[in-house]
Amino acid sequence: MPKINFIQISKFIILIGFVLFVSCKNDGESKRYKIGFSQCLSDNMWRDAMNHSMQIQASLLQDSLTLEIFEANGNIQKQINQIEKMIQDNYDLIIISPNEPDRVVPVIEKAFDSGIPIILIDRKINSNKFTAFVGADNLAVGKNAANYIASMEEKIKNVVEIKGEDNSTPVIERSKGFEQTIQKEPSVNLIKSMVGIDSVKIKSLIDSIDINQIHYMFAFNDELAYQAWKIVHEISSSNKIKFIGVDGLNGTNGGVQLVQDNVLEASILYPTGGEEAIKLAMKILGGESVEKYNILNSTIIDSRNADIMRNQFDKIIQHQDDISLQQKKIQEQENTYTTQSKTLRLVLGLLILSIIFGALVIYSWRIIRQKKRELELINKKIIIQRDQIKTSNDAKVNFFTGISHEFKTPITLILSSIESLTEENRKRDFKLLNELGLIFNNSKRLLRLINQLLDFRKIEDRKFILRASETNIFKFTQSIYRDFERESIKRNIDFTITANNEDLFAYIDRNLMDKVFFNLLSNAFKFTPIRGEISINIIDVTGANFFEIHFKDSGIGIPERELESVFKPFFQGSNNNNKPSSGIGLHISKEFIDMHKGKIQVKSNNGTEIIITLYKDKIHLNSDQIVFEPETNYNENFNFISDYEDDLLPVNVSSNNEEKLSILIIEDNSDLVKFLKNKLSHVYDIHVSDGHDGIEKALEIIPDIMICDVNLPVKNGFEICDILKRDLRTSHIPTIILTALGNKESYIKGLESGADLFLTKPFSLAILFQSIKALLYNRAKLRYYYVNNLETINKNHDFGVMEQDFLSKMNKIIYENIDNSNFSVEQLAEELNVSRVQLYRKIKAILDIKVSDYILNIRLEKGKEMLKNNLKLSISDIAYSVGFSSSTYFSTSFKAKYGKTPKEYKGKF
Ligand code: FRU
Repeated sequence: MPKINFIQISKFIILIGFVLFVSCKNDGESKRYKIGFSQCLSDNMWRDAMNHSMQIQASLLQDSLTLEIFEANGNIQKQINQIEKMIQDNYDLIIISPNEPDRVVPVIEKAFDSGIPIILIDRKINSNKFTAFVGADNLAVGKNAANYIASMEEKIKNVVEIKGEDNSTPVIERSKGFEQTIQKEPSVNLIKSMVGIDSVKIKSLIDSIDINQIHYMFAFNDELAYQAWKIVHEISSSNKIKFIGVDGLNGTNGGVQLVQDNVLEASILYPTGGEEAIKLAMKILGGESVEKYNILNSTIIDSRNADIMRNQFDKIIQHQDDISLQQKKIQEQENTYTTQSKTLRLVLGLLILSIIFGALVIYSWRIIRQKKRELELINKKIIIQRDQIKTSNDAKVNFFTGISHEFKTPITLILSSIESLTEENRKRDFKLLNELGLIFNNSKRLLRLINQLLDFRKIEDRKFILRASETNIFKFTQSIYRDFERESIKRNIDFTITANNEDLFAYIDRNLMDKVFFNLLSNAFKFTPIRGEISINIIDVTGANFFEIHFKDSGIGIPERELESVFKPFFQGSNNNNKPSSGIGLHISKEFIDMHKGKIQVKSNNGTEIIITLYKDKIHLNSDQIVFEPETNYNENFNFISDYEDDLLPVNVSSNNEEKLSILIIEDNSDLVKFLKNKLSHVYDIHVSDGHDGIEKALEIIPDIMICDVNLPVKNGFEICDILKRDLRTSHIPTIILTALGNKESYIKGLESGADLFLTKPFSLAILFQSIKALLYNRAKLRYYYVNNLETINKNHDFGVMEQDFLSKMNKIIYENIDNSNFSVEQLAEELNVSRVQLYRKIKAILDIKVSDYILNIRLEKGKEMLKNNLKLSISDIAYSVGFSSSTYFSTSFKAKYGKTPKEYKGKF
């Protein structure tokens, strides 16, 4: 059969998942370059324009690059740090607009040396270690300005030069280009060169030179030029100075607008190069070779082309906006596409996975179904085998239990015979008495062993119910101690019992605890040699809610390694010298102690010590485990050397000496029957049934008492008892059930069947005699009640319902026929559906009266009542109406019963 390799399948699924994940993740992604731009200055239009043009270009290439702009705000150190950081962060390319040509050189060289391409923009440095430069030619800017002024119509042109304040290469080069050019132009005079301007500087200039002598002012950018224009016009609104700037930016207050507004005469276009720098960067990163110097064109913007320039610029801006918009849309579509393609792949992936899983599930299901079938088959086989084992085991155990029960009857017989023989020979034959003692003690031992075996079975079936009663622990233990005293004397064993509190009471199941103590002492005596020591010590632990009982002997002890096994069933000590032992005594003892929630421990040191710990109170017990038992007479076992009490001897309880009371014994053990017959026949009339015809015999004889065994052929004792107790003819007969089953269920079953008494084998003959006597006495009491309550019998429910019903029915029939002088006992029996003899015996048994007398009594009672209540009726009328054939017979009978004639009785009223 193919085997599922779950690990391989899992690996396969994980692999597929990973492939799908990676393919989704990389979807549409190629290498993106990281470009950094170090911008030296900020907060001015031209720099903003440069940044903006770079960003626009970068956004067009956003799939290929990310641009990060760092502004140094004119702080050289800050610019150095920012470049340093870009090196550390592994930027793919760095664009730098250096603040000044010298101090930034080391960090730029470091970046370059580390392999990062460097693009310088707008400004240069005093080093060759950079990849490319992009920007306009500042020498040309200066030159263009000079040539422009020279081309003007004035004959003489006096010019003031206003330089930027920083030490950047544009400042240096523009100045150089301008000054070198005007030197060659005789019409142009440089009358003043200034660095930066403010109103103070302009005022001092005007103070030194007549303002009308200044024709041109050339400022190094449009912003400076505009400032100069404002200051000059504040001082003199009528001046004729023409201002020329650099940058030619589009937008508010940009060079183009200033020219259009006639603020500036002209502005030299100085392109920022932002767009070109990004393009150049991508070429470098794409591995293309590029020019080192990429010079941008500059041109002059004046009133002649300002409008065109503005239009051009606006169009460019418009185009840029359009491109941005397109770009955005493309981007959106790209995003949508990417998302859709990712989703599609994911769905595809999941579909594949579902198919794989589905296939796997079907495959697994089929395999599981196959396995299940196999398991079911194995299970069936196991169940069959288990049933076979159970049947065979049950058969063995039932046989074992049955045979154990069977043992009990012969032993009971032996014990009862001995009791009887002992009694008879008590004063005569001492030797025989000894022999009998031996038989008795050994029979008892045998019985104990059988009981132990049956207890073991009961423990296994969990059939024991704890019945704890408050018990004087010392007295209880002492009663068991006494059973062993004789043995201790015989073997010269120092056998003692001590207690620190002889008045200690605790709740124990006496029956179970008796077995435990007896067992422990039997073991102690078994393994203790002659002249050894055995002690029982009861310790009431002060302040604690428990007490201890120590059983200590000086016997062979138990090897250390076997101590923990002693309470296991069938344990045999390795050193017990093959002394016969069932190995269940200690196990049963532990089970019984456990039922009491107590503890049993064993120690071995110069002998064996068993310590039992039990609770003093009853908190650990359920209410149904607590019973009341009188404290006295803890040891109810028959002791061989004990005195019979006289009143236990059989006595004739018959009320009538001429007629013996009858007993029906239903028992299939012929020995027991023989024995009972022998013992009871001189007092009672004995009838016997072996069980086959128990019911028939009972109906035939209507005995005064029945003794019935439980284990019988055809019907068991409970069933027989039940049938007879439901039959009107026999319901009144007291019944004793004899059984070997000593458990509560049997007892309840016995009571349910209506049995009056329940004797467990082995029973003492004396107890049986006493029980018969007590039952007959009870019946006599009942009879007395019936006889004296004839009138009220219908209303009283305290006595046997069956008997009461029977009597009521009988009374009813008699009353119905009260005026019928021919009404006979036969007729009554017939109407009651019983035979004449059965009726006779039943009425004799419950009322101790003949039926004919009973009918007569009722007639007389009725007559008496009529005499009292119907004064108008004549005595002979009354005699006829209560069934007397003659008034004379009525008078005679009446006088005999009530001591007066009817006439005398009537005369009273
Ligand atoms: C702006 C600016 C421009 C000029 C350029 C020279 O910061 O002064 O006006 O053209 O820098 O680097």
